[in-house]
Amino acid sequence: MKKDFKKAFKNLEKYRNELLRELNSLDHVLECSLKNYDFMIDFAVKKDFHEVVDIGCAYGHQTELCRGRINYIGVDRELVNFYIPYECYCLPEGYPTDKTLSHNQFKTSLAISNLCIGWNCYVDEKEAKKQFKALKRDFKASLLYLPKDRENILKKVFKNVEKVKDDSEIGAFYYCY
Ligand SMILES: C[S@@+](CC[C@H](N)C(=O)[O-])C[C@H]1O[C@@H](n2cnc3c(N)ncnc32)[C@H](O)[C@@H]1O
Repeated sequence: MKKDFKKAFKNLEKYRNELLRELNSLDHVLECSLKNYDFMIDFAVKKDFHEVVDIGCAYGHQTELCRGRINYIGVDRELVNFYIPYECYCLPEGYPTDKTLSHNQFKTSLAISNLCIGWNCYVDEKEAKKQFKALKRDFKASLLYLPKDRENILKKVFKNVEKVKDDSEIGAFYYCY
């Protein structure tokens, strides 16, 4: 095989894989995440937050819900191509982080997280507690979609933990501050 052809093929294959990954993520958003984000963004607007910081934002397709309503900042440790429909941006970092997300930068913002922070596919109980402690340090409040068996850890970290929506047998939305 010619060297140039081989290189072109490899680059296009990589591009195709990235597109497939994004498509997979978009399917996931349309099929299950968008309704959760709809609840979280409405909640943030009703509570008068000017900004949400979405931890584990993936490609950020859910930013479509924020347009003209609230500032949106995404954080994700595996980010490739962030979807940017308007002025919002993404920090390519794992949370908690000691890098870009300085500990005082978001003191008036609401942290939101859907299927990321605290989930047992990513962290055990000890690590979940560390994540919750960092949220308490970095944000005014957090709204997390979590498995209900994490509620006891939340209560050890935050003074106030409100279950604001009981979504299913597995998960619920917790507002913590
Ligand atoms: C299951 S996806 C959910 C994506 C999006 N929140 C949604 O509901 O459609 C979880 C995302 O969280 C990211 N993630 C997991 N742990 C993280 C961490 N500690 N800090 C930042 N991103 C994280 C993964 O890279 C992945 O993109």
